[in-house]
Amino acid sequence: MNRRTLIQSAAWLGVGYPMRRLSAFVPQPQFSSDPFVAGVASGDPTSGGVVLWTRLIPDPNRDRGWQREAISVDWQIASDERFGRIVRSGQEIAEPKFGHSVHVDVTGLQPNRWYWYRFKSGSAVSPVGRTKTAPSGPVDRIRFAFASCQNYQAGYYTAYQNMVREDLDAVVFLGDYIYETGGTAVRSVTTEDPTDVEGYRERYALYRSDPNLREAHRLFPWIITWDDHEVSNNYANDIAANDQPKELFLERRAAAYQVNYEWLPLPKSCAPTGLNSRMYRRLSYGPLARFLVLDGRQYRSDQPCGDGAKAPCAGFQEDRTMLGLEQERWLDLELRASRAQWNLLANQVQMTVVDRAPGPDESYGMDSWSGYDAARRRLVSALRDTKVSNPVVITGDIHSSWIGDLKVDYRDDRAPVIGSEIVGTSISSGGDGADSSPAGETYLRENPQIKFYNNLRGYVRCEVNRRSLTADYRVVQKVSVPESPASTRASFIVEDGKPGAERLST
Ligand SMILES: [Fe+2]
Repeated sequence: MNRRTLIQSAAWLGVGYPMRRLSAFVPQPQFSSDPFVAGVASGDPTSGGVVLWTRLIPDPNRDRGWQREAISVDWQIASDERFGRIVRSGQEIAEPKFGHSVHVDVTGLQPNRWYWYRFKSGSAVSPVGRTKTAPSGPVDRIRFAFASCQNYQAGYYTAYQNMVREDLDAVVFLGDYIYETGGTAVRSVTTEDPTDVEGYRERYALYRSDPNLREAHRLFPWIITWDDHEVSNNYANDIAANDQPKELFLERRAAAYQVNYEWLPLPKSCAPTGLNSRMYRRLSYGPLARFLVLDGRQYRSDQPCGDGAKAPCAGFQEDRTMLGLEQERWLDLELRASRAQWNLLANQVQMTVVDRAPGPDESYGMDSWSGYDAARRRLVSALRDTKVSNPVVITGDIHSSWIGDLKVDYRDDRAPVIGSEIVGTSISSGGDGADSSPAGETYLRENPQIKFYNNLRGYVRCEVNRRSLTADYRVVQKVSVPESPASTRASFIVEDGKPGAERLST
């Protein structure tokens, strides 16, 4: 037993151990309230490990002492719910500069199996979380749900209330975990829009006070990326939608990125370095599937034509990037190297081009891939030219459900379908919504590449196996009430080797 292990086990048994000389920390903090109210979470599963997360929340009135101190936090992960077989354990130091957050990159686990984990600090013990590693070899299937856009004031998280009852290997989150704007609708957010670390911390704390969201984190590993509202609406790299000076906006963005990392079960590779955070990454589920997680915000060019939804202006076709050239190169290499049967791109904004205007008029969402046509063509051409197996793009952002065919050129009816896009609706943003809408009728009529549109809230449940990928649109009746059932509004199937989703009769 080396010194570190000895210290760890001593700590878990409640025995005091010596202070570290170089980084002093509080080994046995006294808490005046439960420091684990933010819950526990896990993320980024690999075949041999997973990220475990928690964060200590001080009582702002009584815990003034330790708010400025580094605190030791012990963790355990077991192969059974009762912690009879603890397979790994250790200690992390929760530092005030990272909001007393704890990110553990656990290694040495077995592939494709469930684990249970917990944290302890002083005499406080966290709730028990459950997580699952990814497979390394062949498996019959994987199941995951994907979600996005959980505006707190817009509604209750009834989608998560239903999601926690699903049989899932993972949850994929595609952006808008928080909204920087407040207001009063179903719920109320009365604090100022965050611009600094304190402000963003307060906003995440409010969102995570929701019990359904906490439970979804506790029960499944999450694979997370971000979109705009984690910082501010429709920003593009260092450009704020409100034309704030770049240096000021980059300060705000850095604060937002830091706090996003503090609150989420992201791997240490996603921790901010300077003004940036590397969010794009690959997660492998053995030979069956892999996720290529994209970041369409941090490096993108400014939106064309002054943003919004409108007809193309002069300069619309100019070369722009959505991912930045470095990420584009990374994605190209990943697509070339992948031997996985299903290649799932976790993407922010809609990739299928959609004309939103009726008749001969044209209108495109300039913030989505429609506004970045050169970059979109490069990406879809790469999906074609690399011959990557079964590319499927999963997308959030627009608070509605869609199925779209990915093609390089939508003006050519004979252009081949390269892949499918499954756009999931919001968790709560937009409020209750409606099953159909006049706008939805227009989208379907004007765009043969769109096969489904729906405007209710919910999430998408996917099953991937060797024959097909099935997507079930799980919609909730309401988000304006605290409890509401979910049902499957429609199901689509993508068959192996056959790009283009087909509706399953229900
Ligand atoms: Fe959103």
